[in-house]
Amino acid sequence: MSVERRPQVVVRPAEPADLTRCAEIFLSGRLQAKPDDEAGIFRLDDFADEVADQDLWVAVADGRVVGLVSADIPAGLIRNVFVDPAWQKRGVGYRLLSHVCARLRPPIRLICAARNHAARAFYEHVGWREVTPGVVRDGHVLYQHMSAAACDELERPPAA
Ligand SMILES: CC(C)(COP(=O)(O)OP(=O)(O)OC[C@H]1O[C@@H](n2cnc3c(N)ncnc32)[C@H](O)[C@@H]1OP(=O)(O)O)[C@@H](O)C(=O)NCCC(=O)NCCS
Repeated sequence: MSVERRPQVVVRPAEPADLTRCAEIFLSGRLQAKPDDEAGIFRLDDFADEVADQDLWVAVADGRVVGLVSADIPAGLIRNVFVDPAWQKRGVGYRLLSHVCARLRPPIRLICAARNHAARAFYEHVGWREVTPGVVRDGHVLYQHMSAAACDELERPPAA
């Protein structure tokens, strides 16, 4: 990826004022990822239910929230990575994953809808592998990052 395509991105914990924008990004990502026959069932207020009891971070570029990641920290499980379609393929998704990986204890896992082939290709491109290849549970596949060291060490908080 060329340097000029990488925007300046800051990842920080989400604040209440971010939630409407996060819901918009979540909805547009779901519409992008799902087949037409499911698109009509998604609503803007699904986001609050989706991230209830999860930690949520946002990526900010040009003063605007352009992506989000949510995780269940005790379970070591990343649940959602969504980037504004206008900001995709510019390193934001990778940056969000790196940020949250650095805050989870290995083994770090994530779930992805089995039919979301684009997202699965993204995860596999950036080093994630299916825990049990070919196994789909409740329409989802489970991925694991084998090495926490593969996450960006610069993101790792200093040892206590
Ligand atoms: C999947 C998603 C989060 C990726 O975010 P992104 O910001 O576009 O990804 P990045 O720009 O950080 O990509 C990092 C690398 O993965 C590659 N990549 C991105 N999308 C890819 C895809 N669909 N297939 C293969 N590789 C992909 C990039 O080219 C880049 O590679 P490089 O570093 O070798 O140049 C984003 O496309 C998205 O929000 N999709 C809709 C919502 C969704 O499906 N989320 C997942 C739900 S589990």
